[in-house]
Amino acid sequence: MSEATEMPTKLVDRFGRHVTYVRMSVTDRCDFRCVYCMSEDMTFLPRAQVLTLEEMATLGKAFTELGVRKLRITGGEPLVRNNVIWLFQQLGRLPGLEELTLTTNGSQLERLAGPLRDAGVRRINISLDSLDAERFRRITRVGDLDKVLRGIEAARAAGFERIKINTVAMRNRNDDEILDLVRFVLDRGMDISFIEEMPLGVIDDHDRAEVYMSSDAVRELIATRFELVSTAETTGGPSKYFRIPDSGTRVGFISPHSHNFCDTCNRVRVTTEGQLLLCLGQEHSMSLKQVLRSHPGDMDRLKQAIVKAMDIKPKGHEFNLEAKPVIFRHMSVTGG
Ligand code: GTP
Ligand code: 5AD
Ligand code: SF4
Repeated sequence: MSEATEMPTKLVDRFGRHVTYVRMSVTDRCDFRCVYCMSEDMTFLPRAQVLTLEEMATLGKAFTELGVRKLRITGGEPLVRNNVIWLFQQLGRLPGLEELTLTTNGSQLERLAGPLRDAGVRRINISLDSLDAERFRRITRVGDLDKVLRGIEAARAAGFERIKINTVAMRNRNDDEILDLVRFVLDRGMDISFIEEMPLGVIDDHDRAEVYMSSDAVRELIATRFELVSTAETTGGPSKYFRIPDSGTRVGFISPHSHNFCDTCNRVRVTTEGQLLLCLGQEHSMSLKQVLRSHPGDMDRLKQAIVKAMDIKPKGHEFNLEAKPVIFRHMSVTGG
């Protein structure tokens, strides 16, 4: 049989999980320095090590030909990459792709919400951990809350079908704002997900175990003010969603510590350097950059490499906030 007829049209790992969702980090750079994500002093990758936008577009084509239906662009902050709209435009045209989306800190949305919508992005996730300008600055170290709020308004005006806010819930840092954040999304017809902090990379701001707040604790707090109705809805991500009755708002919980969701994992990641990462919480990976650069234009070889990598997708992560970090990669390299 020739190689061409053997090429699968689906990605399936050793545990029978279908990979249909790829998260692609387009830059490790960011204009913020969130305390849970980065240390104050970060060294970013040299340009030559980072995939070009053309290489990323080629990867998007290969993945969709292998049955991937959802692509999420992440960073760092994806919108600080020069000309990133070009990439969205290329990916937005891929046959078979059902959803093209991004996760952003919102700082560039005032300028880019319109072009993103025009490129075919229908849903967008925006990070927001506080509604208090001074505290927002403390958590992001440099971020300007007003600019992000203007970005959120620009996204609403651009007509995205869903806007979701992502909040990392931290004990004694922003837990007193959880109800306000729910009110904020409720008033604007948006969704919100609360995330448990994950031990990715060494940070110097706080002890992750000390600020840890479980999704159950966040949910109990919200339930004191708002009715939460459990749903089986999914966006293909790891969030467990609740609805607030008589509103369009969904409240999601991403609970890598308290509710492991690895059994139903449907995703892989591509780092800024073109490393195909099979699990956020493990090191199993292979270099797609090497395939792209040693065999330019060879789509079959690239697809074979991706198919083969499915054999090393691990069963799940082993996050432990008490132990020393075992994953030295910062979230900004993989985009979460
Ligand atoms: P949608 O469900 O499509 O809205 O997206 P999402 O919630 O999967 O994506 P988003 O980029 O908004 O990520 C929110 C948080 O979920 C980030 O902190 C991610 O790191 C985390 N996350 C997403 N996928 C995984 C995963 O496979 N494992 C773990 N542990 N965390 C994940
Ligand atoms: N743990 C949990 N979430 C994190 N994020 C960044 N670093 C971490 C971490 N260590 C979040 C950001 C953003 C999303 C992509 O990941 O706030 O919403
Ligand atoms: Fe930048 Fe997002 Fe990391 Fe914050 S969490 S420093 S916005 S990449």
